[in-house]
Amino acid sequence: MTDPVAFPQNRTCPYRPAPGYRPLAERRPLSRITLYDGREAWAVTGYALTRRLLADPRISSDHSDPAWPVANAAAAAAQKFGEDQKKVIGRLTALVGVDDPEHRARREVAEAGFRAGLIDAVRPKLQEVVDRQLADMVAHGAPADLVSAFASPAALGSLYAALGIPREDQEYFKQKTQQLFGPAAAGAYDELVAYVAKQAGQHPADGLLGAYLAAVADRGTPADAAPAEVLQLLLIMLVSGHHTTSSSIAIGASALLQHPEQLAELRADPSLLPAAVDELSRLVAVTDGVQRVAVADIEVGGTTIAKGDGVFFVLSLINRDEEHYRQPDALDWHRPDPGDHLSYGSGPHRCLGLDLARTIMEIAFGTLLERLPGLRLAEAAAEIPVQPGESFQGLVELPVTW
Ligand code: HEM
Repeated sequence: MTDPVAFPQNRTCPYRPAPGYRPLAERRPLSRITLYDGREAWAVTGYALTRRLLADPRISSDHSDPAWPVANAAAAAAQKFGEDQKKVIGRLTALVGVDDPEHRARREVAEAGFRAGLIDAVRPKLQEVVDRQLADMVAHGAPADLVSAFASPAALGSLYAALGIPREDQEYFKQKTQQLFGPAAAGAYDELVAYVAKQAGQHPADGLLGAYLAAVADRGTPADAAPAEVLQLLLIMLVSGHHTTSSSIAIGASALLQHPEQLAELRADPSLLPAAVDELSRLVAVTDGVQRVAVADIEVGGTTIAKGDGVFFVLSLINRDEEHYRQPDALDWHRPDPGDHLSYGSGPHRCLGLDLARTIMEIAFGTLLERLPGLRLAEAAAEIPVQPGESFQGLVELPVTW
């Protein structure tokens, strides 16, 4: 058995796997890693094996399992929160952190929000949000930090629009959701439930808020319990959707601006945009360590993942598996099936918001390219600072000019 590799490690280029993951790539599809606390776990790095294991009921998403693997000290500290915060976090992971049959039942309601043309209905509002945010960034002048001036607020504003939180209430909603992770968690939670109840009582609500109110009523949830259930779903969408979408826009833009040929091709033919959004998502793989725990022994080609072992799916390597992709390191808008990457996961927990995320990114990249023909990095690519110590990928900032 070869030496385990430390995980996670920092990327040096925002859209390439950490250089220290090279031995993991060489040992595809499965190898050992050491976590920050000295525990060992498995790294899955092969495309076909990922699809197989993420659909296997012996690979559990149960965050409350004592053997659940933790990627860094900050995540471990979150497990030592006070009771109120723990309750809130339990509610926020009530979809992604549970297994079937509980997961299937919750997922059915959560999916109901995305039916009936939600994305088409909110598309003009998403465009408005992105236009406003870009105009704001331009008004402040070049150079700008694309993360704080565009990607993060545009992603959050788009999510609020999809959720159906009116603009005048968004600052309040944001403050209260931030309080959910501090000492005022219980009070903030009650206020947010009351907010949803008030929206429900006033008028037919927009977006996911309206769709979820209808869905829980259809399922027979009593009227007094409905606002809490709807709030929980909205918060899950916010928590799952904000940083993922923001980082995909920011890291995706950094990749795009370092590929002048592909950038020129995209400017010349905007019909390539949907494929480009998926290809950028494949390459940047922001969730670079989807976690699981084995709840029974699993044989993988003569190796056993034992019951109680932690497992990380290293998406930056999975999306570059040479057995699945020709020239996996190239940014190529013409792949036969651009949407088959695993940046949105696979199996029963596959990203619920992927169509919304794709739409937000399409609008964000399309608008950036159209309105800022001279957009370029304001500093040498090697200087772009990545968030250290995380399996989830983000940029500290992305200085751009135009
Ligand atoms: C580019 C942006 C995004 C990326 C890369 C992304 C990635 C992912 C991944 C990898 C998973 C699977 C996690 C696992 O298996 O443990 C996931 C699940 C999920 N995502 Fe996303 N996501 C994005 C945007 C969004 C948005 C915008 C929303 C909501 C509006 C959203 C909602 C969710 C939810 C609710 C789940 C849990 C699904 C379940 O457990 O059944 N995501 N996402």
